[in-house]
Amino acid sequence: MTDQKSKKTINQQQVILSGMQPTGSLHIGNLEGALRNWIQLQDEYEMFTCIVDWHALTANYKDPSDLKNRVFQIAVDFVSAGLDPEKCAIFVQSDVKEHAELHLIFSMMITVPTLTRLPTYVEKKDTLDSYGFLGYPVLQAADICLYNADKVPVGKDQEKHIWMANDLAKRFNALYGQTLVEPEGLFTKIPLIPGSDRRKMSKSLDNHIPFEFTDQETEKRIRTFFTDDQKLRRGDPGRPEQCPVYLLHQVYSPNETDEINSECKSGALGCADCKKRLTANLNNALAPIREKRVELLKDPDAIWDMLGNGASKSRVRAEQVMDSVRSAMKMKYRS
Ligand code: TRP
Repeated sequence: MTDQKSKKTINQQQVILSGMQPTGSLHIGNLEGALRNWIQLQDEYEMFTCIVDWHALTANYKDPSDLKNRVFQIAVDFVSAGLDPEKCAIFVQSDVKEHAELHLIFSMMITVPTLTRLPTYVEKKDTLDSYGFLGYPVLQAADICLYNADKVPVGKDQEKHIWMANDLAKRFNALYGQTLVEPEGLFTKIPLIPGSDRRKMSKSLDNHIPFEFTDQETEKRIRTFFTDDQKLRRGDPGRPEQCPVYLLHQVYSPNETDEINSECKSGALGCADCKKRLTANLNNALAPIREKRVELLKDPDAIWDMLGNGASKSRVRAEQVMDSVRSAMKMKYRS
C-alpha cells in the first residue's frame, strides 16, 4: 500500500488518458493487452479512461441503437477487472462535448493528405470513406490533448495516432504559444493473446474468451483451440512455441510452464489434458472478475451514475484546457 501511495506522489502531476471503443463485454485479450496495465497505472498517475462512442460511430453510424448496451457492458467490465472509479475517472466521450470542439479546431491544422496516407485509413478506405472516418485520428488527438495528458497507454498499432496527437499539440503551441502538453505513447510490453484460431483474440472473430463466459463455456471454448497441428495424439512430440494454448499457459500457468513445455515436447502430455490444466487456471484467474461482474450487474443505475460522475470530473479538466485553447487563439471574445 505504502508503495502504491509513494508512486502516486512521484507522478502526481502526470496525467494519463486511456481510451477504448465500446465493443461491449470484454475478453482476456483486452485484459492482458490493455486493462492490466491501466489498472496498475491508476495507482501511479492521475488517470482518465474514455469510452469513445463517437469513434465507434465511424463504423456503426447506420445503427447506433446498440451503443447504449455496449457502453454499459464495457463500463461493467472495466470495473470488474479492477479499474477503480475512485482512482480514475471513467467516462463516455460524448458526455464531454469539448472533445468535439477541440477536434474541430485540430481539423483546421492538419492536411487531408496527411490523413489519407495513414495505414489505418488506407486499410479500410474502400469500405469506409466518410469524412468522419478520415478524421478518426484527429478526434483521437483531441481526446488526448483535451486533458493535457502526458502519457497514453496504447498498443504499437496506435503509434502513428499518438505521434499525430503529439504533432498537433506541437503545432498548436508553435502557432498560438505554449498551451498544450505534447503527449507520448506508453508502449509497454504486453503478452500476445491468441484466439482459438491462432489469430489475435477478437470479439468479431468469435475466437475469444469473454469475462462473461461461465466456467463451462470457457472449457468448451478452450476445447476448440488450435494446437500444434503436427501433434495428433498423446505420445506425439509437440512444439509448444507453435501452440496458442501454450501461449495462454505462459500467462495463466506461470508456475507450470516449464513442466508443460517439456512434457509437451516429450509427448507425455496430450493436448486434451493440457487444455484441462489451462481451463482450470484460467477459470481460477477470472473468478474474482466474474464475481464482481455479477455483483455490478445487479445495480445498473450505479454504473450509469459512475459514468455520470466520471464525466463531471473529466469535464472540469476539459473545460479548463479548452478555456486555455480559446484564450491562446484570442477567441475569448467576452471576458
Ligand atoms: N483508436 C483507439 C483504438 O482503436 C481508441 C482511442 C480513441 C483511443 N481515442 C483514444 C486510445 C485516445 C487512446 C487515447 O484502440
